[in-house]
Amino acid sequence: MTWLITGGAGFIGSHVVKAMAEGGERIAVLDDLSTGRPERLPEGVPLEVGTVLDREAVDRVLREHAVTGIVHIAGKKQVAESVAEPLHYYHENVEGLRTLLEGAVGAGVTRFLFSSSAAVYGMPDVDLVTEATPCAPINPYGETKLAGEWLVTATGRTHGMATASLRYFNVAGAATPELGDDGVFNLVPMVFERLTAGERPLVFGDDYPTPDGTCIRDYIHVEDIASAHVAAARRLVADPDASLVLNIGRGEGVSVTEMVGIIQDVTGRTDIEPLVTDRRPGDPARVVASADRIAEELGWSARYGVREMVESAWAGWQLRHP
Ligand code: WQD
Repeated sequence: MTWLITGGAGFIGSHVVKAMAEGGERIAVLDDLSTGRPERLPEGVPLEVGTVLDREAVDRVLREHAVTGIVHIAGKKQVAESVAEPLHYYHENVEGLRTLLEGAVGAGVTRFLFSSSAAVYGMPDVDLVTEATPCAPINPYGETKLAGEWLVTATGRTHGMATASLRYFNVAGAATPELGDDGVFNLVPMVFERLTAGERPLVFGDDYPTPDGTCIRDYIHVEDIASAHVAAARRLVADPDASLVLNIGRGEGVSVTEMVGIIQDVTGRTDIEPLVTDRRPGDPARVVASADRIAEELGWSARYGVREMVESAWAGWQLRHP
């Protein structure tokens, strides 16, 4: 079978392409290169430059590559931008997905994997977030991911497509320095930026109801995200009736203070004291996955820890900021 990976030239997409190619899958990539870079793709993987919003392009690519499965990773992912431009986010993330699914149904695609996010949970009030925890997104970005899951599940059920929505928690790290990313508003790159400029890293609030007062997240290495896609894709092939919703996390919470400490250690900048500022609006105190369902369903669990995420992200940062 041939898999089309949308957004395959992006940060997460290129890691999924690498892992699926190494796993022996036949792959083509569709990417509009808005944030993707062709040089992220391994040799021999065909790149079609275009958007999932272009139905004619979708139809042509599905036909020319005889696609039977899709991994849909393309999308917009900045929370603050989604608050400022909700129409744009719904267009790109929901209308884009709807157009792609329409093309997929028309082309007889029978397997569909969708990149979702822990953002669907909003401000969960539980220790470990399971897939049964109620979804209550608090920004348009999270809403588009939840609407996307509904669209994927409903389409799969009606049109005989095996589907999986994968809810990524806080992605960090890189497989190689070249594949790294400086996802501008995320903790790890923001601390790198401050430290390398000789500035104090910012901690957005230390009065949360957590042991050290700072927010707790479930950080997951992008290579683990990628290996979860390989496992999910195999499962969809084996089970044509699959309709899965799975967290991809480690089930281990790390606080901002702990994370900043590890980053300072890895970068060797332990001399600079972090600076506590006001809370950033919309930040939940604690979001940590239960990783039980994915372990049961796919036999998958994360291999890498936080230190490996930070070390690999730092190697990439140094490459891009010599
Ligand atoms: C982590 C923690 C900050 C920077 C976001 C999206 C989510 C998902 C992943 C996906 C928070 C704190 C950060 C800094 C800090 N998106 N922080 N100082 O907000 O958990 O998740 O990215 O595509 O939907 O919301 O990730 O990395 O921005 O923040 O104290 O300089 O670090 O307040 O507690 P977040 P993040």
